Amino acid sequence: MAQQRASFGSKFGIIMAAAGSAVGLGNIWRFPIETGNNGGAAFLLVYMVAVVLLGVPLMLAEFFIGRYAHTNTAHAYKKLSSHPLWSNIGFIGVLGGSIILCYYVVVAGWVMKYFFLSVDGTLTSLYQPGNAANYESLFGNFVSNPWSPLLYMLVFVLTCHFAIASGVQKGIEKLSKIFMPALFVILVVLVIFSLFAPGAQAGLKFLFYPDFSKLTTSAMLSAISQAFYSLSLCMGCLCTYASYFGKDVNMVRSAVSISVIDALVAVMAGLIIFPAVFSSGIDPQSGPSLAFIALPAAFQSAFESVPIVSYVVSMLFYALLVLAALTSAMSLYEVPTAYIHERWNISRKTATMVVTAVCLLLGTVCSLSMGVLGDMKLFGKNFFDLCDYFTTTWMMPMSGILIAIFVGWVVKREIFINEVTNGGTLRPTGANIMLFLLRWIAPVLVLASFLAVLGVL
Ligand code: PHE
Repeated sequence: MAQQRASFGSKFGIIMAAAGSAVGLGNIWRFPIETGNNGGAAFLLVYMVAVVLLGVPLMLAEFFIGRYAHTNTAHAYKKLSSHPLWSNIGFIGVLGGSIILCYYVVVAGWVMKYFFLSVDGTLTSLYQPGNAANYESLFGNFVSNPWSPLLYMLVFVLTCHFAIASGVQKGIEKLSKIFMPALFVILVVLVIFSLFAPGAQAGLKFLFYPDFSKLTTSAMLSAISQAFYSLSLCMGCLCTYASYFGKDVNMVRSAVSISVIDALVAVMAGLIIFPAVFSSGIDPQSGPSLAFIALPAAFQSAFESVPIVSYVVSMLFYALLVLAALTSAMSLYEVPTAYIHERWNISRKTATMVVTAVCLLLGTVCSLSMGVLGDMKLFGKNFFDLCDYFTTTWMMPMSGILIAIFVGWVVKREIFINEVTNGGTLRPTGANIMLFLLRWIAPVLVLASFLAVLGVL
């Protein structure tokens, strides 16, 4: 098996694929929502600290395990320990990554639909000054309709399916090398447009001028879980991708670069969204519907005097979301695909088909839970919210604590340093700093936030 294993073809491809996993709906959709709900700049600050103290070391820990073990996530941990507590960490990733995938494809389907609605001019034509009611009913009718969201989800899932079935280099790497630079270009164009929106200063102030009175414990926790989500941590994606890395990749440098790219995209998304939101007088705390109700209205109103600009801006924005969602979904797809492919020794194409079938089935339940299955609730949540809650509130932090303790304390220090310094050819400073963070900072911070969520602390 090992001799035939897939690999990435270039270092640029590795950064684009891993950054593609990190940069997703989490940066452009979830980050502005969280920032809006938690008071803006102060949240951004804690988020940045969480990225540095938790994000980079945990990303490196996953890279280390993946490249060292050279196999799928579920088996990777077994190569470093036979104790059931540690050897099964990888299964949390396979399970969690698969659950996230099932609701991620639903939102990605909505995003695709909105891209088409912006291209055919519907979003522009529905605009009524000072009133988002049209967008509200558009979105409400769309998500509660049983068929239409399913159709878009199907298109999105099939796109991922063909990308993954094409292989690591020909599918994931090739597409990431095209999509990520395209995404950057769109981002820059949108930031420039947005900064010229009338009244953009209020949005900038909201994003960059911290008001520490808004910094509640729950805001700090949200910042930590946002950092986890946004960097694709602890769900097996980075570990699986690292199993395709070459032995000459500088993993510390890669983890830093990817985290910087991810944070930069989140800030740029904030720079696009908040000026438009403030200049149109919309409440930045409008929650998950922000991207589908408040934003279409905000884009139209911010550029009311030049309708062609609002048309182009909303089209580019949804194109951006589609690209970002695709590269992240591919990384989520790859986790169970690699596992099934190697565990049962079946072809990559067949493994992808199994993942697609499960994803379509559970994705359908997620999608329908926004409408006809809305009354089917567990712990007061519909299936869609339950998948999100269970993975981000429970599985991610739990797996984060385990990974930090495992790499920091259980794995022999020499093994970690040797792998991360590429057999002693790189300077060990970075590896040592990361090991320190993994030992002393990450477990404590994540555990504290986890206990606080449970109301114990
Ligand atoms: N990081 C992705 C995003 O920002 C989401 C994701 C989470 C992907 C966990 C993989 C694993 O949208």
